[in-house]
Amino acid sequence: MDYKWEIAEALGKASGLPAQQLADMLETPPDASMGDFALPCFRLAKALRKAPPAIADELCARLEKPACVERVEPVKGYLNFYLDRSDFTRRVLQAVETGEAYGSSREGKGKTICIDYSSINIAKPFGIHHLPSTAIGNSLGLIYRYLGYRTVSMNFLGDWGTQFGRMIVAYRKWGDSDRVQREGVKALVDLYVRFHDELDAHPELGDEGRAWFKKIEDGDPEALDLFNWFKDITLSEVARVYDKLGVRFDEYQGESFYADKTDPVLAELREKQLLSQSDGAQVVYLDDYDMPPCLFVRSDGATLYVTRDIAAAFWRKEHYQFEKCLYVVAYQQNLHFKQWFQVVQLMGREWAQDLVHVAFGMVSMEDGAMSTRKGRVVLMEDVLDRAVEKVQEIIREKSPGLENQEQVAQQVGIGAVLFSVLYNNRIKDTVFSWDNVLNFDGETAPYAQYTHARCSSVLRKAGDFPLEGEWDEAALNLPEAQAVLKEIAAFPDAVAQAARRYEPYLVARKVIDVCKAFNKFYYEQRILDCPDAEKRAKLRLTRAAMATIRQGLYLLGIQAPHRM
Ligand code: ARG
Repeated sequence: MDYKWEIAEALGKASGLPAQQLADMLETPPDASMGDFALPCFRLAKALRKAPPAIADELCARLEKPACVERVEPVKGYLNFYLDRSDFTRRVLQAVETGEAYGSSREGKGKTICIDYSSINIAKPFGIHHLPSTAIGNSLGLIYRYLGYRTVSMNFLGDWGTQFGRMIVAYRKWGDSDRVQREGVKALVDLYVRFHDELDAHPELGDEGRAWFKKIEDGDPEALDLFNWFKDITLSEVARVYDKLGVRFDEYQGESFYADKTDPVLAELREKQLLSQSDGAQVVYLDDYDMPPCLFVRSDGATLYVTRDIAAAFWRKEHYQFEKCLYVVAYQQNLHFKQWFQVVQLMGREWAQDLVHVAFGMVSMEDGAMSTRKGRVVLMEDVLDRAVEKVQEIIREKSPGLENQEQVAQQVGIGAVLFSVLYNNRIKDTVFSWDNVLNFDGETAPYAQYTHARCSSVLRKAGDFPLEGEWDEAALNLPEAQAVLKEIAAFPDAVAQAARRYEPYLVARKVIDVCKAFNKFYYEQRILDCPDAEKRAKLRLTRAAMATIRQGLYLLGIQAPHRM
């Protein structure tokens, strides 16, 4: 559907300017009455040394109209192009119907994208604050794969640090293996909270914690057994949640995996004279880059998160030769990533520019529940389960006859939660409200899923009416149908832009645009009750809308049931 290019080539011939330059200038007017494409001629005024209106008039007179264009109009220094509606209709429907996944491409062939996301912490609850990273990272993986890239999804577990020594101390003093077995992470969190409560009165606990962490580092069997047990408990709990979300990882290599790979990093920093002493600690000064010093070794000798992040980046580059490595992590860690990306650059790694911090804002619950420090975390699993339950209630009330109620409730409930953090640009904070995420008439997953099911139902009602055969393109010339086609036509670009800008919301918005346009068409037009050739055209449009909505939701990690 390369209209832009066809128009740019014709303009190139008429103006003597390079077609590429003209293609880059062509705009999509905000309002269909101003055409499908417009050339802002003021941008040519310098090169052609004429006033924009004169340029528009001349180009218009000299232009050999490409077949896809119905008419061209110079208006106030713009040259507006109106596409031939039948040609447009034919092309859009054919593009969706080719059988290849619509909007997919091969631009990423032979390239690998690493995506570090969700990255939960061992012995900590899997809270709702992990939702954006999990949803955005998963969607980016699906989008990049759709564009032909190979992706590696990585859960960089937070499984290293003195806190695990403290956990062991707490467990050995107050722990009860039955309870931990039974209550899992919750019991571990309680032990950790107790440790901190007692620390004031018993400061020696701090030393004990450090000593036990040292034992983990040295491979002491008792320490390792407990540490691995805490890990297994956490991982089996999160596996259940990932299962519900439909999220999978290729790798669970966390901080502990890289702990023994930090020495070469520190050695290289020293050798390149990047490390400086500062009050017994070792830092890399980043004053030249307007950043505070980056701490690499604390005065007590402990290495840090940042060193493990760099070791992990080196390992990933070596193993995957990634084109890009994305870190889908909250904006609170902006400085952390800026600092160590800069350090990797200073170490002489040109590929530091391929490291991308995909930052996002916070999620809070409408009722204000959030704080992690108080242990008052909203658990991801609770939110998911509640969403599914609520959808079940709605189904029981509104479509009691529906088959597979359970499965549909899962798809809609989970989809609603995922969509809540995928519909706005990443950096925006999300206030999670049940009324909003489950609003079937709002800009939500349930609304998109419902529209998809509506398309499906129209097609079912058509029964065995053949969609192949003579059809009346002109039946789709009406504005409501053209509006649907226009949104469908814009879908591939939305997918490509989403990848380029690491913004799945561009896909989410396009899905909603298609839904809104289709619903308007559906309410204002008879689809089934009209002559065959017209009916065929409208059914093909319905099928194309359905395929686009379905594909878009899929790229967001959301399923679309055929009946709701
Ligand atoms: N576990 C960390 C946290 O919860 C996130 C890790 C992000 N990934 C990374 N490579 N630093 O804050």
